[in-house]
Amino acid sequence: EEEIKKISLAVIRRLPKYHKCLGELLRNNVEKVSSQELGQMLGFTASQVRQDLNNFGEFGQQGYGYNVEQLYNEVAKILGLHTEHKMVIIGAGNLGQALANYKDFESHGFKIIAMFDINPRLTGLRIHGVPVYDLEELSYVINENNVDIAIIAVPKENAQQVADVLSGTIIKGIWNFAPIEIKVPPHIMVENVHLIDSLFTLSYKINENKLMERLIKQKSKRFE
Ligand code: NAI
Repeated sequence: EEEIKKISLAVIRRLPKYHKCLGELLRNNVEKVSSQELGQMLGFTASQVRQDLNNFGEFGQQGYGYNVEQLYNEVAKILGLHTEHKMVIIGAGNLGQALANYKDFESHGFKIIAMFDINPRLTGLRIHGVPVYDLEELSYVINENNVDIAIIAVPKENAQQVADVLSGTIIKGIWNFAPIEIKVPPHIMVENVHLIDSLFTLSYKINENKLMERLIKQKSKRFE
């Protein structure tokens, strides 16, 4: 546990890529893989791969490479994928329903057990097989079912209020899709999915490219 905490977030953000790649190798009965090969598949350098994987123990062997199964299991353990996670969605609107319909969460061990809403036209329904309860029942359902992850999919105006309710439960992590920074006690982990921020980043990249093209054009004109 102590060792796990020291790993930087930058490394953690790359781990899902290792996990996916190693999973594919495993399914294809590949037993060992070198840092060069892993790097090639992931678009990282071999030394980046060695540095990343050195963070959690001595798995590579000089001249042998990595044992695929061992490394896959270790990465899964670090990502907390060796245990099943129960999740709830707060806000059964467009996004909440779309997330409830996404089958890959469950196949990766993340089970959505309930949705919550304040709209009486939604409560009592089952959407994509997931029951929708009134917000009033949120704390009870979370604590009774050992839910560890809550997904916030309510309008941004209501997100903090939902976060406050969640703070009084046994929840360990919040996956926040509302485009605001929510405040929660430090023992609750928050991961934001702010789509607009991501879109702005894409916009920046496009813009940067255009600037670069203009610059190149100007420069090449000078030599004509
Ligand atoms: P929506 O209006 O379709 O759904 C929101 C739902 O939350 C409604 O059913 C509403 O009754 C419920 N709600 C409101 N206050 C509540 C509360 N205090 N407790 C429980 N339920 C409550 O909105 P949509 O499109 O699903 O968006 C939800 C959130 O996700 C927004 O913050 C939005 O910015 C964000 N988002 C939406 C995306 C999308 O593709 N729709 C993509 C990324 C983010």
